[in-house]
Amino acid sequence: MLIRQTGAIDVWVFRHSQLTISTLHMREVLSPAERERAEKIRRIDMRRSYLQAKFAFRIILSAHLRVPPRDLQITVSRFGKPRLPAHDIEVTQSHSHDWSAVAVSALGLVGIDIERWCPLAKCRQLACHIMTDQEARVFEHIPRELTVRKFLELWTRKEAVLKCAGLGLHQDPRGLHAGWDEPTVHFGNVQYYLNALPVCGQLVAHLASQVPQTIILRSLPSKLVLAAVQ
Ligand SMILES: CC(C)(COP(=O)(O)OP(=O)(O)OC[C@H]1O[C@@H](n2cnc3c(N)ncnc32)[C@H](O)[C@@H]1OP(=O)(O)O)[C@@H](O)C(=O)NCCC(=O)NCCS
Repeated sequence: MLIRQTGAIDVWVFRHSQLTISTLHMREVLSPAERERAEKIRRIDMRRSYLQAKFAFRIILSAHLRVPPRDLQITVSRFGKPRLPAHDIEVTQSHSHDWSAVAVSALGLVGIDIERWCPLAKCRQLACHIMTDQEARVFEHIPRELTVRKFLELWTRKEAVLKCAGLGLHQDPRGLHAGWDEPTVHFGNVQYYLNALPVCGQLVAHLASQVPQTIILRSLPSKLVLAAVQ
């Protein structure tokens, strides 16, 4: 396989439509719990998207760890953070519309968040639900044409840190001051390193880690995907 543990954070950002695998094949690779969750999704396009995201997650980890994708034991913490108890790596994932992102690190906790850019009419009203007072004051002065991008930047910075901490939205995002520019933020006496990911213009993406590390953006070759299920 192409992918080895690198001592860096390996990141994959991809569109689900890149995965032209049959639903049957994808289901075969998933765990019973993942299949059960898929069954509960009524909309066919959303169910397929879920299968593609979970399938890709397993294939990426399988290639990374050299373990068949079906044999990977992926557990979920009380708050929803994915874990691989049998392996000394940390993983994180995010989905937005037809996009997913996955990050893998052998050097400590990581959290990733992506949002596909879309017009958000109520950005200013939403601000008070996620921003600290200080962030809200800065946001008030952001020019109208930049409000959505700045909102999504802040949102993905916060979610990346909260996923890294393993809390997700079980923590009120107003309890975390992330700002827009600082390369590190503090939350619960822990310092987190934040990086904007250089992804396509449709997306806003941030990665948080407890240790400063090189980030390697990897692609998801369909060849790899096809080989892994055979
Ligand atoms: C973490 C969380 C905020 C992500 O929400 P989101 O932006 O809709 O979704 P994303 O696609 O970016 O991330 C989802 C992934 O984050 C991961 N995740 C979920 N909870 C997590 C946690 N506590 N810590 C770290 N990662 C977590 C999972 O891998 C999940 O993937 P899955 O849904 O395929 O299993 C959310 O799942 C959460 O915390 N939920 C619990 C609280 C809640 O539901 N609040 C609702 C108020 S709006």
